[in-house]
Formats: sequence, structure tokens, C-alpha cells
Amino acid sequence: MNFSRLTLMLIFICAFLPPSSPDPNDQSCLTKLFESIEDPHNFMNWTRSNIATPCSGSLSNLVGATCNNGRIYKLSLPDFSLQGSISPYISNCTNMQSLDLSNNSLTGPIPAELQFLVNLAVLKLSSNRLSGNIPPSLAMCAYLNVIDLHDNALTGAIPPQLGSLVRLSVFDVSGNRLSGPIPASLGNRTGNLPRFNVSSYLGNKDLYGYPLGPMKSKGLSVVAIVGIGLGSGLLSLLLSFTVVCVWLRVTDQKMAAEQEDKISHSMPEY
Ligand SMILES: *[C@@H]1O[C@H](CO)[C@@H](O)[C@H](O)[C@H]1NC(C)=O
Ligand SMILES: *[C@@H]1O[C@H](CO)[C@@H](O)[C@H](O)[C@H]1NC(C)=O
Ligand SMILES: *[C@@H]1O[C@H](CO)[C@@H](O)[C@H](O)[C@H]1NC(C)=O
Ligand SMILES: *[C@@H]1O[C@H](CO)[C@@H](O)[C@H](O)[C@H]1NC(C)=O
Ligand SMILES: *[C@@H]1O[C@H](CO)[C@@H](O)[C@H](O)[C@H]1NC(C)=O
Repeated sequence: MNFSRLTLMLIFICAFLPPSSPDPNDQSCLTKLFESIEDPHNFMNWTRSNIATPCSGSLSNLVGATCNNGRIYKLSLPDFSLQGSISPYISNCTNMQSLDLSNNSLTGPIPAELQFLVNLAVLKLSSNRLSGNIPPSLAMCAYLNVIDLHDNALTGAIPPQLGSLVRLSVFDVSGNRLSGPIPASLGNRTGNLPRFNVSSYLGNKDLYGYPLGPMKSKGLSVVAIVGIGLGSGLLSLLLSFTVVCVWLRVTDQKMAAEQEDKISHSMPEY
């Protein structure tokens, strides 16, 4: 058998191989996600049977999913009014490069397990009700280009580790409840790395440092001082007014009583 015949035979065999079976990691990831997310309007229209075979080659049987070589490659479910939380098992979709769950009503934390998505380049979780901290372990996803977490209820500090993501070109954590200093590793990135302006950080509880302003003084803010001043001023005015009124009334009654006394005294006795 010569070489070209062997090649032909191999091509023939490959062409008639059954399609590869679904990846158990993707199945686990999607099943758990389907269980943790609530889809009240059935916009996703996922069923257990199409989760069992999520990909046929590069085509997906699931709304919002994109496949590549039989693996989930992209999951995009924005504006679906989804509720519930993001299952940590999302980390089993190990070929995922892009995750977009923005503009839903998702609650709970951002799973730290996202760190196992080593190919993740795009993470959009903005406009949800996510709480807890931004996991520092996100810095393990070395290919991250986009981290968009704006308009959630995230607390704590921005992890300085995120500054090590050299590919990061979009970073938005505005409209959360973050506090503490903006890490210099992000605020003052050096070299050719893109920097992020104030719009990436605005609308947080207690964030400070470049490009935002310096830390607010530990004492009372100007507004609070003015408020307290005005408040106590009004209160003391009210108090003194009351005192004066009471005093006036008391003296009035006293005078009236004295008058009566005088009158009765001046009355001739019979
Ligand atoms: C999925 O993730 C869990 C937890 O991270 C892990 O224990 C499990 O081995 C993974 N794979 C499958 C197929 O469940
Ligand atoms: C839901 O998916 C099924 C197939 O799984 C399809 O037949 C049906 O048309 C879909 N419904 C909507 C509203 O997209
Ligand atoms: C968010 O999703 C809702 C539907 O759930 C849609 O009406 C709205 O336009 C979306 N907002 C943005 C900014 O895309
Ligand atoms: C960050 O850079 C700005 C302008 O380039 C500078 O004014 C500021 O002092 C720097 N802050 C830190 C903490 O290095
Ligand atoms: C901040 O940067 C964004 C793009 O990253 C741009 O759209 C926006 O206009 C900038 N805002 C300011 C105040 O420079």
C-alpha cells in the first residue's frame, strides 16, 4: 500500500466518523448554570435535552451560545431579564472566551471560579444586582481584554492584582459600592498600557485616588457641617422662641393676678 492510498483511506475514515460526543465539562457547566439562573420569560428557551448536546460542530443548539470545535466558546445572554445567580460551575466551560450576562437581574457574587476560564477575554456582567467583592483571582485569566462590571452592588476594594492584566483595554466598575484606593496598578498604569478615565470609577461609595480625587477627610463633609449648623441654629431659635413665649405668658398671668390682688386690696371692706 503506497503513501497516497493510505492518505486517501484516512481521509475517507475521518469523513465518516460519528460526530464527537458532547464534552462532559460543558454539559456540567451548562446544566448547573441552567439550574442557578431563573428565566421567568423563557427568553433562553433552554431545555435539558439541548443542554445535553449543546454543540453540533460550530453550531449551537442553545440560544446565546456559540461553539467552536464542539466546545462552548461564547455565551451571550444580555437583556433577558434573567434572575438567580451565576453558578460557580461556569468554570467548567473551559474553552469559553466570552461571557456576556449584562443587563439582567442576577444576584449573588461573581464566582471566584471564573479564574479557571484561562481563555476568557471578555467578561460583561454590568447592570445586574451582583454583590460581594471583585474576585482578585480574575487576574489569573491572563487574556482578559474587557472587564465590565458597572451598575451592580459590588463592595470592597478593587483588587490591585487586576493591574497585571496587560491586555485589559476596557475596565468599568462605575456605579457600585466599592471603597478604598484605586490601585496604582490600574489608575496609574505605566508604559503603553491603556489607562482608564474617571468614567470607569464614578458612582462608587468610597473610592478615591487617581484618576478620582484624593481620600475624603475622615471628619464630617462640608454638607454635613452646614446641615448640622443650620439644624442646630433652627432648633435653638425654636427653643428660645418657646422660652420667650412661656415667659411672656407666665409674666402675663402674674401681672393679671397682681392686678386682681391690687383690685381686691383696694376694695373697701364692709
Ligand atoms: C466541574 O467543576 C467542579 C467544581 O469546580 C469540579 O469538581 C468537576 O470536576 C468539574 N467537571 C465536571 C465534569 O463536573
Ligand atoms: C424553543 O425551542 C424549541 C426547540 O428546542 C423550538 O422548537 C421553539 O420554537 C423555541 N421557542 C421559541 C419561543 O423560540
Ligand atoms: C435592558 O434590558 C431590557 C429588557 O430586559 C431592555 O428593555 C433595555 O433596553 C435594556 N437596556 C439596555 C441599556 O440595553
Ligand atoms: C498618578 O499620575 C498622576 C498624573 O500622571 C499624578 O498626578 C499622580 O500623582 C500619580 N499618582 C500616583 C499614586 O502615582
Ligand atoms: C473616558 O473613556 C471612554 C472610553 O474608554 C470615553 O468614551 C469617554 O468619553 C472618556 N471620558 C472622559 C471624560 O474622558
